[in-house]
Amino acid sequence: MCGIIGLTKKTGDSVKDVLKGLAMLEYRGYDSVGIAVITDNRRLVVRKGAGDLANVRKRLGLDELRGRTAIGHTRWATHGPPTDSNAHPHTDCRDEIALVHNGVIRNYASLRDYLEKEHRLLSETDTELIAHIIEDGLRHGKSLLESMVEALKKLEGSYALAILYKNEPKRIYFAKMKSPLILGMFDGGSAIASDIPALLDITRKFIMLNDGEFGYIEPDEVSIYRFGSEGSFYKIDAEALKNRIKLIEWSPELASKGGYPHFMIKEIYEQPQALSDTYNGLAEDPSLKKVAEVFTSSKRIIVVGAGTSYHAGLIFTYFMSKLTKKMAIPLISSEFKVLESAINDGDIVLAISQSGETFDTLEAVRTFKRKGAKIITLTNVVGSALDRESDMTLYIRAGPEIGVAATKTYTSQVLALELLVIEVGRGLGLLSKENYKRLSEILSRADSYIQESIEISDPLAKYIAKLMNNYKGSLYVLGRGLGHYIAKEAALKIKEISYLHAEAYPAGESKHGPIALVEKDFPVFIIATNDSPEIVGNAIEMAAREANVWILKPSDTELDIPDNERIRTIDLNSINKNDVLEPFIFIPFFQLLSYYISVAKGYNPDKPRNLAKTVTVE
Ligand code: M6R
Repeated sequence: MCGIIGLTKKTGDSVKDVLKGLAMLEYRGYDSVGIAVITDNRRLVVRKGAGDLANVRKRLGLDELRGRTAIGHTRWATHGPPTDSNAHPHTDCRDEIALVHNGVIRNYASLRDYLEKEHRLLSETDTELIAHIIEDGLRHGKSLLESMVEALKKLEGSYALAILYKNEPKRIYFAKMKSPLILGMFDGGSAIASDIPALLDITRKFIMLNDGEFGYIEPDEVSIYRFGSEGSFYKIDAEALKNRIKLIEWSPELASKGGYPHFMIKEIYEQPQALSDTYNGLAEDPSLKKVAEVFTSSKRIIVVGAGTSYHAGLIFTYFMSKLTKKMAIPLISSEFKVLESAINDGDIVLAISQSGETFDTLEAVRTFKRKGAKIITLTNVVGSALDRESDMTLYIRAGPEIGVAATKTYTSQVLALELLVIEVGRGLGLLSKENYKRLSEILSRADSYIQESIEISDPLAKYIAKLMNNYKGSLYVLGRGLGHYIAKEAALKIKEISYLHAEAYPAGESKHGPIALVEKDFPVFIIATNDSPEIVGNAIEMAAREANVWILKPSDTELDIPDNERIRTIDLNSINKNDVLEPFIFIPFFQLLSYYISVAKGYNPDKPRNLAKTVTVE
């Protein structure tokens, strides 16, 4: 996730509007900033650097620039750490094109291989490659539009692009695929941005672009194209475009949350995008294969993390055992001393942390490193402390998460970890070629499964939250196997956001103690994953104590659930028994439930009491 913006005007200056828009887009990323402008004497000027907007603006004098056509970018690093050279815009070898990008190019490695033979590459980003592919087209006498089309055909993954071309000073070219991009129209100019808030000061008139659309804007013209058959392309006619213009009346407060009342709900709804970016980023990332090789030849793997990241780690240990027959030992990072004496130089430590800055996880990693272990990190933040201190890093690419509750970063972590597991399975020869391909293909669609689950879960979670409005007691979230690991994350969400005591434990443990608490109307949520049909027995024993039981299950899982007014069943989407998809279909319900209970009780779900987004103290 990054923020992009561009403006082209008949008269006057666009730079100050671009800078204003970038300030509104900083929630999408803030590790480096840059702008490109075509000055009135037709020079293409690029200024960019690492740091947030306030810092780069001052350091590089961005406010001094002037020009009618300008683009800007605020970055959330995905390929390459946040450095001056990795900041956007990126240029071609001849400095004729300046390009900003939000998204992840999946076939980065193969594109880079062929481009670096003939081009001067100045950064480690996937974005810069696009500028050089377009340059190739121009060198062959094609127009910028044709060159961009040729480039788009070569790209796999997600992108929202804004491009300046020195020889066409009034135009901003654009293209969209799986990353958000909108056009804005106003008197004397046109604009482009990642989202509406960035342009609200300038216009209320917008066109929302669809995937696969590309084209250009000029001060008094908007041209949108689509691909036709066999690589041809055609222009969408003016009448059709007129019908797509929308008038948006949002308050600035609502606008910064993209129209959602809170960041948490926005981020829950961003999960399909986050999963798609995570998949695209890792599917062909050579680092994934390298890390998998390390795991393949390892004796022991210790998985450390805190809170939600630990819960993602549990899911990793489950699938490692199931699909690779390898034992991975989960460890809450603050408890690292429990294993400290046993760690030695044959060990591999997988540290999981959204922020990459969690004190406890860093302490665990530093201690285990001193004992000779090799450290591999999975994080969302390129250049974070864990990233820097690890031997190897994988990135999830979920974009910045503002709400304190981990939502989209959890599901992105799970997806990244599952991709790693199948890579290890393939390396060990335990997954046949066909099986590996099948699982990889299923995981490539995790985004649409979670989308469907969010749609199914939202009204149900709202309804149950209403029923629980006056409830102040405890509740259980039960599962077995994979279901128990998902339940742990579900219970954490309810605790931290709704302030209700929620406990997750393996359902088989009920009779060994916890069932003593169950009395009339005690809420029990049961996560019925495919690996545990016997969980129905646990539902029955709870109902017999007059608990209110909700069984959640994939719609295609058949369970022998007796007729019992105390047991209700929630059918989520069908997953054809592909258990790797189960975390994505169960967890949205609990994220939404905790959110709606919190809102109904008048709490702030974005800033739960006593909690901080990143815990950098012991
Ligand atoms: O940044 P990290 O993933 O290392 O953070 C670890 C925990 O503090 C974090 O997952 C926390 O449990 C969540 N914010 C809960 O939603």
